[in-house]
Amino acid sequence: MFVSDCLQVNAEHHLTIGGADTVALAQRFGTPLYVMDEAQIRRNCRDFTTSMRCSYGENGLVLYASKAMCCKALCRICEEEGLGLDVVSGGELYTAYKADFPMGKVCFHGNNKTPDELRMAVQYGVGRVIVDNIEELRLLEAAAQREKKTASVLLRIKPGVEAHTHEFIRTGQIDSKFGFALETGEADEAVRCALSLPHIALKGFHCHIGSQIFDADPFILASQIMMDFIAKVKHDTGSEFSELNLGGGFAIRYRESDPPSIKTRYMDDISAHIRRQAKQLGLKMPFIYIEPGRSIMGDAGITLYTVGSVKTIPDVRTYVSVDGGMFDDPRYILYQAEYEILCADRADAPRDTTVTIAGKCCESGDLIQENAPLQTVQAGDHLAVLSTGAYNYSMASNYNRNCRPPVVLIRDGKPRVIVRGETYDDLIRCDD
Ligand code: LLP
Repeated sequence: MFVSDCLQVNAEHHLTIGGADTVALAQRFGTPLYVMDEAQIRRNCRDFTTSMRCSYGENGLVLYASKAMCCKALCRICEEEGLGLDVVSGGELYTAYKADFPMGKVCFHGNNKTPDELRMAVQYGVGRVIVDNIEELRLLEAAAQREKKTASVLLRIKPGVEAHTHEFIRTGQIDSKFGFALETGEADEAVRCALSLPHIALKGFHCHIGSQIFDADPFILASQIMMDFIAKVKHDTGSEFSELNLGGGFAIRYRESDPPSIKTRYMDDISAHIRRQAKQLGLKMPFIYIEPGRSIMGDAGITLYTVGSVKTIPDVRTYVSVDGGMFDDPRYILYQAEYEILCADRADAPRDTTVTIAGKCCESGDLIQENAPLQTVQAGDHLAVLSTGAYNYSMASNYNRNCRPPVVLIRDGKPRVIVRGETYDDLIRCDD
């Protein structure tokens, strides 16, 4: 019935997540409130680890892209499920470290890692640094030399495939801030540079082609380009660097009209393709990494709000204002992101009105959704925005000095606060 398997309606007509009554959660913890279902997160992890094992045996690793939603409790769940971790800043790396995540299974990303971040990565002993540019290679060499260590790296390549949702284009795209271009010889130069540095161990290559992608074809095209590059490097250097990280980007269902995710289908199609190509090119089967973020956490989370006011402007629209907004979910203002939204108190009643759901920030554009079908609501009702487990908490801010809401994790129907809500004292903690 809903976009996620963890959502249902109970006898009181309340929306439930992981068996927990969302109205009771809103009353107990206050709103806005992020709620995540542990069982759904684990199911999502297992979908990926199982299909990875079926397609590549022990020759692959699923990394959770923690930019989607990063906190210690979720790092621990991913570790228990056998995933590695993709981190993209010193802060995400520190979170993983403090969660006792095995550092050998961490890949460190970013197009402009600072010298401090690189030093931290070397000191912590992260498994792979995904190197973005030549300056970074040199900085990493210096950091590794200082620590008397060798840094294992993948080079980030621009495969010239750009994909969003249902469409993708072969751009020969060199206009991107991420990675080394193939067309200009930049990628070849990066390989030569990496091989010349004594504290750098080149292991392979990485690419990432976009996010919220419903189609396997762009991934197949990207893997083909990357395999060709591995073959070229083998030809040029005599060495086969056969770790291949194909990035993340698997779509989830936000709207009921969205098709199912490709996450399990994806792996079969691509691995068959890579296997065929390896044979043709005389390469061994590469060690494969993938980096799902949204598709691990997205459909495991919802956000609960309380309605404060309803304003109908005749012949214009109805504004339903809630106690959150762009500070806990900036995705509508940034990308006009679509969501399903329900009245949590009457979740199975027909959605008989069309409204604009507005946040409480001092800014007209602060909307959660426009033209949203919704049950008729009034002040005091609770709204649930679905599929907010990824890129909501992680992109939240303190705009207007609002406090970031808590995150509650449901396990066997019982809630546990995994990130406490901020207080006003948290807001002034760094002030002079
Ligand atoms: N790997 C790399 C190198 C990435 O840049 C990303 C996402 C991922 C993996 C994970 O992609 P996912 O599986 O989550 O699609 N804030 C945007 C999404 C930005 C994604 C950035 N990179 C949103 O809210 O839709």
